[in-house]
Amino acid sequence: MAKVFVTYKIPDMGLNLLKEKFEVIINPYDRLLTKDELIKAASNFDALITMLADTIDKDVLESGKDRLKIVANYAVGYNNIDFEKAKELGIYVTNTPGVLTETTADLAWALMLAISRRIVESDAFTRSGKFEGWKPELFLGNDVYGKILGIIGFGNIGQAVARRAIGFNMKVYYYQRHKVAPEIEKSLHATYLSLEEVLTKSDFISLHVPLTKETYHLIDNKRLSLIKKTAYLINTARGPVIDEKALCQKLKNNEIAGAALDVYENEPIICEDLFKLNNVILTPHIGSASYETRSKMSLMVAKDVIQSLNGEKPDHLVWE
Ligand code: DGY
Repeated sequence: MAKVFVTYKIPDMGLNLLKEKFEVIINPYDRLLTKDELIKAASNFDALITMLADTIDKDVLESGKDRLKIVANYAVGYNNIDFEKAKELGIYVTNTPGVLTETTADLAWALMLAISRRIVESDAFTRSGKFEGWKPELFLGNDVYGKILGIIGFGNIGQAVARRAIGFNMKVYYYQRHKVAPEIEKSLHATYLSLEEVLTKSDFISLHVPLTKETYHLIDNKRLSLIKKTAYLINTARGPVIDEKALCQKLKNNEIAGAALDVYENEPIICEDLFKLNNVILTPHIGSASYETRSKMSLMVAKDVIQSLNGEKPDHLVWE
């Protein structure tokens, strides 16, 4: 019987499906596995279901070269996997595209509204018993409605964020390497601009690019300097897309109005100074964390594993 290893417990839906066909072992610890543990799992199992926090590098993949058929990543991003090496070794790599688009777009919007209307700060204030009654200038924030939204990375998630902006009567500017089709631009009321123009003109900037060599520190100190003093930066993509230290400095100096971050440059480590700032919201990488979506992701990785262990090409191969 083929053996599947899951590096962290995921929702049951997909696991139950796998258990009908294979021996399924789940990491018994409530922690990430070490590199040695991943190497061992790769050499002893036919399939690995991995998390975005697992580094599946050349060493891990090479240890699986005689047995491992697939690494099914429980995430849409797969920057944690050396997929070129996997391809070379004939090991499939899959991800979970599509199912988390709307959930992640919802979070980007939740963060955008929360940072501009100071929801987290005012919640803490109210809980601490400081609310003495309505005051005309208590917790003034900034409107979202009618403002300019800049979207960097205009794939599925970026477009889902833009779709929501229609209801808020926002002007949408977007940047990515290629312009999307004119019909999409029209339906989303979106205009293509250079990265620099998007940064300069927007009131809210939301990042939706994958992490690659090209997007590492895409938002560096120089580009952060282009952002308006009154603008907010939202990151639900990948931490290393922003130079976190540089961002921290800008926020400290109030050179940017605020930032809402779900992802960090060196997760789970976060630039300490961010904890001290009021103009920041920090969430623990929960972009796809809804019951519905995490169950769909679980089903998706299970189906890809089943296909590959049945000798078929899995549906969500990352290189096709
Ligand atoms: C992903 O799937 O890549 C997301 O970051 C999960 O929240």
